[in-house]
Amino acid sequence: MDLFQAQERIAELSGQVQRHNYEYYMNDNPQISDYDFDQLLTELQQLEKEYPQFAEENSPTKRVGGTVTKKFETVVHQYPMLSLSNSYNQEDLIDFDQRVQKLAGKKVEYTCELKYDGVAIGIQYKNGQLFKAVTRGDGTKGDDITENVKTIRAIPLKLTGDYPDEFEIRGEIFYPLSVFKALNESREDIGEDRLANPRNAASGTLKMKDSKVVSSRKLDSYLYYVLGEDLPFKSHEENLVAAASWGFKVPKESEKLFATYQSIEGIFEFINYWSTERNNLNFEIDGIVIKVNDYYLQEELGYTAKSPRWAIAYKFKAEQVETRLNQITYQVGRTGAITPVANLEPILLAGTTVKRASLHNADQIEKFDIREGDLVQVEKGGEIIPKVVGVNLEERPPNSQPTEYISQCPECETNLIRIEGEAKHYCTNETGCPTQIKGKITHFISRKAMDIDGLGEETIELLYAEKFINNYADLYTLQEEDLLKLDRMAQKSVSNLLQGVENSKQIPFERVLFALGIRYVGETVSKKLAKYFKNMDAILNATLEEMLAVDEIGEKIAESLFFFLQKEEHLELINRLKSYGLQFEIVEKENTQISTIFDGKTFVVSGVFENFSRNDLKKTIEDYGGKNVGSISKKTDYLIAGDKMGPAKKEKAESLEVTILSEQEFTEMLG
Ligand code: IVH
Repeated sequence: MDLFQAQERIAELSGQVQRHNYEYYMNDNPQISDYDFDQLLTELQQLEKEYPQFAEENSPTKRVGGTVTKKFETVVHQYPMLSLSNSYNQEDLIDFDQRVQKLAGKKVEYTCELKYDGVAIGIQYKNGQLFKAVTRGDGTKGDDITENVKTIRAIPLKLTGDYPDEFEIRGEIFYPLSVFKALNESREDIGEDRLANPRNAASGTLKMKDSKVVSSRKLDSYLYYVLGEDLPFKSHEENLVAAASWGFKVPKESEKLFATYQSIEGIFEFINYWSTERNNLNFEIDGIVIKVNDYYLQEELGYTAKSPRWAIAYKFKAEQVETRLNQITYQVGRTGAITPVANLEPILLAGTTVKRASLHNADQIEKFDIREGDLVQVEKGGEIIPKVVGVNLEERPPNSQPTEYISQCPECETNLIRIEGEAKHYCTNETGCPTQIKGKITHFISRKAMDIDGLGEETIELLYAEKFINNYADLYTLQEEDLLKLDRMAQKSVSNLLQGVENSKQIPFERVLFALGIRYVGETVSKKLAKYFKNMDAILNATLEEMLAVDEIGEKIAESLFFFLQKEEHLELINRLKSYGLQFEIVEKENTQISTIFDGKTFVVSGVFENFSRNDLKKTIEDYGGKNVGSISKKTDYLIAGDKMGPAKKEKAESLEVTILSEQEFTEMLG
C-alpha cells in the first residue's frame, strides 16, 4: 500500500466506522454485526499506527480511549452554565406562564423536554470537529474532560451537514439503567461496594484518569441546548432539529421526548404522561424542563443571577411510599460480605410490588435509627432494589427496640469482622460457611467464568447438601454412578453436567483466574494479569511490587491477590485444578506457534505482497515466534519490504541498520 492508498483507505474506514456508529447509537439500527464493526475499527487502528500522518484528529478510533490525564485543566465557560429554577406543582407553572406572558405581551410557545438526571456537559465544536468538553464545575469554570467525552459513542466527534463554524452544545451524560445494573453486579461479584446511584456513578466515571476505562463503560448522552453567535435559527426547537442533522442525539418529538405547546394545558399533559411513563425509560429523569421556544423572547426575558427567566424545571417527587418494616434479615455474599435487608409489608411502588429493600450496612441503619416494626419510607432510585430512606418516628410502636446489628454470621455463626475504612461487616469463615462455599461455586460455574452448562444454583445446592462438593475443585471429581443415585438427576442431566465440566477444561486461563473468585479480581483485571504474567506460576511467584507493576492494578487489588495466594487452602485448590487439566497459562501463541525460529525477533511489515495479505504475513511471523511492531526503531530486527513501500521507511531501516527482507527472502527463511 503506498501513501496515497493508505490515506484513502484511512478516510474510507473513518467514514464507514462513523456511519455505523451513528446507525447503532443514534438510530438504534445497526447495519453490520459487532464482529464486522470490530474488524473495520481494528484495520483503521492498524493503519493509523502505521501512517500516523493520516490519522484524523477526531478519528473514530479515539472512542477506545487510551489517553491518561494526570490532572483535568480548568476551563472558563464562554457562556456560564446556569441552573434552572424549580417548581413542584401546577400553581408554580401557572405563575411562571403568567410572568412570561406579561413580559411578552402575547401568547407564548413553550417546549417541553425531560430533565435528564445525569452529569451536565458543555461541548464546543470548531469547524465540525469536537474541540473541547467541559463539566459544569461552579457554573463559571469547569474541568476539561475532552478525552473522556470522546469515548462516548452517542457524542459525535465529527459533524455532518450544514453546521456553524463555532458553537457549543450542552446536554447530560448518564448511565443507562441496564448498564448501571450490570456494572453494580460485576462490582458486587468481586466484592466491591455497589455504586449508590447512576448519576454519581456517571460523575465518577467521567473523572477517571484513564480514558480507556471510560470507553469500556458505555455511558450515554442526550444534548438539549445549542449556544453560539451564528446559529441557523431563532428558536430552540429549530436549532435542536438542525443539531440532529449535524449528528447529535437530541430529544425527538417522534419519540415523545420533545413537544411544543401554546398552552399550559399541553404542558400538564406532557408532565402527566411522563410522570408514569418514566418508569419504562432505561435512564433516570427527575422532572420536565419547560423552555420558551423563541430566542428573541428568551433574550427579552433574560436571566437572574442563577437561572434563565425563560425556563423552569418541574421536578417529580421521588417515588416514595410508606410501609411497615416487618423484619431485618442479613444476607451473606460469596465474599463473606453481610448485607442487611428490610423485609417489608408488600406495597406498590413505581409500578411494581416491593417486598424487600436494601439497608446497605450498619451505618445506614444507625443513621436513620431504623428498627423492626417501624413505618419506613421506601424509594426507588436507579437501583432495581429499592432503598429505605427514612423512618416515620411519629408512628413508632411504643415497645420498639433499637436495632442491634448482628455480630455473628447468620449462616455459620462465625464472629463478624469489620475492616477499618470499609462499610460492610464480613464473615471470615471462607471454607466453612455454607453460603460462601455455594456462592463461590456458583461464581466459578457462571457464564463469564467457567461457563459450565448443565449446572445451576439448585444443582449446586443439591450436590453440596449430599456432600459431593465442598469447593469448586470437587466438581472435577464427580462420578456418573454417584450422581445417578440422586433423586432429581436423570441420565440426561448427569451427562450434561459431566460434559459441561469436561468442556470447561478448555476455558482460557484469564477466565479460570476470574473464576477463582479472588476479591477485586474481576473480568478486566483477570485479563490484564493473564496477559502480563502469561501463566499461574508467574503470578504465584510474583512479589507485591511486581503485581503493582501491571497496568491498572492498584494496591487494593494487588494486596487482595497476593494474600489470596499466600493461603495454603487456595494453593491446594489451584494445584488440584491444574491436575484436572484446567488452563493455567495463556494459549494463543503456544497453540498456533509452528516454530520458534523468530523467537525474540521484531518485524515491521510494509507494502503490498504477492503471496500474502499483510495480515497473513503478520500472523505467520507470530506463528514462528516473532513479534510485529508498527514502526521501525533501533530495536527492529527485520523490515519485510513489499511492493510500493514508501522510500522513507527504507531510508530509516537502512540508517538504523535494520535487515531488509524481500517477500522471497522471508519465505525462504520459513523453510
Ligand atoms: S436546559 C440555562 N434542558 O438540569 C439552562 N437542562 O437544574 C440550561 N438538565 O443545568 C439547561 N435536562 O444540567 C436543560 N432538558 C434539559 C435538561 C437540563 C437536565 C439539567 C442541566 C441543568 C440542570 C438545571
